[in-house]
Amino acid sequence: MIMNEKENEMPALDVVVMAAGKGTRMKSGLPKVLHQLGGRALLDHVMVAAAGLAPRRVIVVTGHGAAQVRSAAQAIAARSGLAGCDTVLQEPQLGTGHAVQQALPLLPDDGICLVLNGDVPLIEADTLRALVAACGGERLALLTVDMPDPTGYGRVVREDEAVRAIVEHKDASEAQRAIREVYTGFMAAPNHLLRDWLGRLTNDNVQREYYLTDVVKLAVQDGRAVRALACPDRVQVDGVNSPVQLAELERAFQLRQARALMEQGVRLADPARFDVRGSLECAQDVEIDVNCVFEGAVALGEGVRIGANCVIANARIGAGAVIHPFTHIDGEKLGVEVGEGALIGPFARLRPGTRLGPQVHIGNFVEVKNSVLGRGAKANHLAYLGDADVGERVNYGAGSITANYDGANKHRTVIGDDVHVGSNCVLVAPLTLGAGSTLGGGSTITKDTPPGALAVARGKQVNVPQWKRPAKKGG
Ligand code: UD1
Ligand code: CA
Repeated sequence: MIMNEKENEMPALDVVVMAAGKGTRMKSGLPKVLHQLGGRALLDHVMVAAAGLAPRRVIVVTGHGAAQVRSAAQAIAARSGLAGCDTVLQEPQLGTGHAVQQALPLLPDDGICLVLNGDVPLIEADTLRALVAACGGERLALLTVDMPDPTGYGRVVREDEAVRAIVEHKDASEAQRAIREVYTGFMAAPNHLLRDWLGRLTNDNVQREYYLTDVVKLAVQDGRAVRALACPDRVQVDGVNSPVQLAELERAFQLRQARALMEQGVRLADPARFDVRGSLECAQDVEIDVNCVFEGAVALGEGVRIGANCVIANARIGAGAVIHPFTHIDGEKLGVEVGEGALIGPFARLRPGTRLGPQVHIGNFVEVKNSVLGRGAKANHLAYLGDADVGERVNYGAGSITANYDGANKHRTVIGDDVHVGSNCVLVAPLTLGAGSTLGGGSTITKDTPPGALAVARGKQVNVPQWKRPAKKGG
């Protein structure tokens, strides 16, 4: 027989995320918890923090936009390694206590329930861990914080230090409204106690709602201990109720990321003008100028310099490469790779499937898509390379383009090493240019070129000697 390896010190953890509210003040068709912060839904931030505690299951309470929230929650759970994610529908929404009541059938008596708010995105896993530890499988634990302006929040009412109740702002007396310690919306309690308390909630209050916060006075009535844990950091418990608050938290979040990168040695020209909406990995001596946006997964090699106003998504930039201002790089699913020591931009555009070798130069108003460029290849001005394999040291002239699309299918252009493409050439794919061949400027090339050949495909120049221009009549 196989024995249990060790006794669990703490009961299993179940997480309930309240996400049924409408978010009226967002004035948006999108459910509030699906608004984005740092490129991810608010709900994503909350669920990822929960995933850090490896809970037995997560239950998301949905209401407004339930179908949308449900599919988002399931996708987030799959991505963040959450074991089980269920959603329960709260319809109509009769308050936060009523919200958690909907999850009760999915909460076995043996666990601890951790209640999270779907619209409080910057909570950290360490804080949640401390809250669960404060519950200890035995008592009600509340996360509280001191607010300079506690208007709107539930006040933590104490008697001789001991927590006696949470009183909602609208129900609070003048004296209670002076209390600065407020409930953050995060609590942990043993499932069986929570079930009992939630069964005894009433809605005899100003808002006619079933308040989750009333479990505090029920615990006190039962002679149960209530522990209040002070949150170390306000921004962790700030909620999003309006576009203004969303933007404020976005800045707080970006500053958090900027600081972490600067602590690793990344030199940011201005941490207040810097946005990462995904993950940014930086080697040593990376410099990033103002107003850059990084999306998806981006990795910058040692000594990379990024100029002002670049947008870079899903890309790997090799060591020593310089991305000049106003460059747009988006690898989407295929990714973009920029080789070591490459010079890109200003005003360059690199699209999915671009793989640039070392020392490649891509200049202003050059677009590259699904193309591989060998070491030292250059396309410096006003050009398009799509579905092309470009050899080493190729010089691709200003204004030249690959005509890679025949209206139905895409075709490849293969350009051998050391090819020189003159200015304003049209390369009609499928096409192979032999190594070392040269294309005369202005050519429309429809046939393969042998290695070393000169190809010219344009109207021949005619010179008319002593030609007289037309003169104005009667002039
Ligand atoms: C709640 C607390 C208050 C606390 C504050 C912190 C209660 C009664 N009050 O107040 O003490 O200071 O949070 O931010 O709990 N929700 C549902 N279903 C509902 C009602 C709400 O899922 O029927 C969800 C909302 O979508 C939101 C969360 O619960 O994510 C909190 O609801 P909200 O209305 O913002 O509560 P507050 O009145 O701010
Ligand atoms: Ca709120």
